[in-house]
Amino acid sequence: MATQGQHEVTQTVDKTDATSLQRTSAHSESLSALRASGLLSRTTGLTVLPEVTSQDDLLTFKHRDELRYQKEHLLGRGGMGEVQLALDQDIGRRVAVKRLINEDDPRALARFVDEVRTVGNLEHPNIVPIHDVSVDADGSLFFVMKYVEGETLASIIDKLASGDEAAHRRFPFEARLDLFTGLLRALQYAHDRGLVHRDVKPENIMVGRFGEVMLMDWGIARRTGGDGLRADHPTTVRAAGETLDGTVIGTPRYMSPEQASGQIAELDGRSDLYSAFIVLYELLTTRSYIEPTASVIQSVAAARDRQPPKVTDPVFSNPHQNSVPSELRHFLRRGLATRKEERFADASDVIHELEKVRSGACAVQCPLTFIKANSTRYERFLDAHPLLGMLTTAIALCACASGLIAWAMLLLFRFAS
Ligand SMILES: Nc1ncnc2c1ncn2[C@@H]1O[C@H](COP(=O)(O)OP(=O)(O)O)[C@@H](O)[C@H]1O
Ligand SMILES: [Mg+2]
Repeated sequence: MATQGQHEVTQTVDKTDATSLQRTSAHSESLSALRASGLLSRTTGLTVLPEVTSQDDLLTFKHRDELRYQKEHLLGRGGMGEVQLALDQDIGRRVAVKRLINEDDPRALARFVDEVRTVGNLEHPNIVPIHDVSVDADGSLFFVMKYVEGETLASIIDKLASGDEAAHRRFPFEARLDLFTGLLRALQYAHDRGLVHRDVKPENIMVGRFGEVMLMDWGIARRTGGDGLRADHPTTVRAAGETLDGTVIGTPRYMSPEQASGQIAELDGRSDLYSAFIVLYELLTTRSYIEPTASVIQSVAAARDRQPPKVTDPVFSNPHQNSVPSELRHFLRRGLATRKEERFADASDVIHELEKVRSGACAVQCPLTFIKANSTRYERFLDAHPLLGMLTTAIALCACASGLIAWAMLLLFRFAS
């Protein structure tokens, strides 16, 4: 049977309304309370496998009472957590260990628990898997996930922006679209399961050694439809790495207009897709969509009012790379439409449209896309009917040449007379 202390602590984690959260805050440190109540395991993560040695035919098993996860170095820090590289001494592999920066903040703790359960239930190649959850020797909660040996999309964008040649060679536009597709697949999977991530941004996307894309940091993900399965604890704003309380949730520079307007309950997958399009904009142009130097208030206002860039916007030209192709500019504009009704319906819709754009079957939206769409059609015609294609090309070239000759003769005739 739960003691009074246990009962109070259980409420802390389960209740969703503001009153209980206020009570939680007033209730000293929630994690210490959990520990004192015995609800939180005090067992530290120790190795379980013995050391095995063999000499001649004699096998010796030596019990090791070591900490299972030996910290190596810091991999990264976000608004709420810190991720370290560690060696799993039982399995003998490197893993990433995430712990809270401030465990005594009950809301952060609640999100941490949510994150473990959310990610633990998502099995997808573009979502980082969780291996374990445990408590440290000093009593700190942590969870263990696959170590993604690579870098964040934020770091890749920084390199592209500074004109890093290796980065440009590794990530031409086609490769950047592959990264975007990986992100879309993670979102498609989560949205199909009724989850909205709400913090899609380059810092939360990792690209592994083999080019695999992983969407991380599900700490503020929420179930759509409000079935109460996931509590929406008082709101958090993450700006340039900081976490602040407020009336909106997420990172202002990457928020959809509806997210920035605080319509948290009505958020659906289209909000994540808008953020994903900001990521694509930054990947393709290597420029920030909303200036990182803006204050939180300015960023929230910009996120609410920002209009999609015009196709002729100079941002699409960059001295370090080719201009962003016009069909991608139109694609970006639709994904960044302020009204969600004007955007893509869902991730599958975006994937489908992107496939069309990539195959050259883009919709005709301007003279440039008209020429591109028709030249692709013509290329396909040439592949299907090479002889006929060559003949028509020769006729067309002859017609052009005759026209030019006639025009030149006309000029000469006029000049002579
Ligand atoms: N599995 C991982 N492998 C390698 N690095 C990681 C991993 N998870 C997170 N990181 C690094 O740690 C940073 C912070 O992690 P994140 O989960 O986003 O924390 P927060 O919730 O505080 O934002 C990331 O931006 C990334 O650089
Ligand atoms: Mg993060």
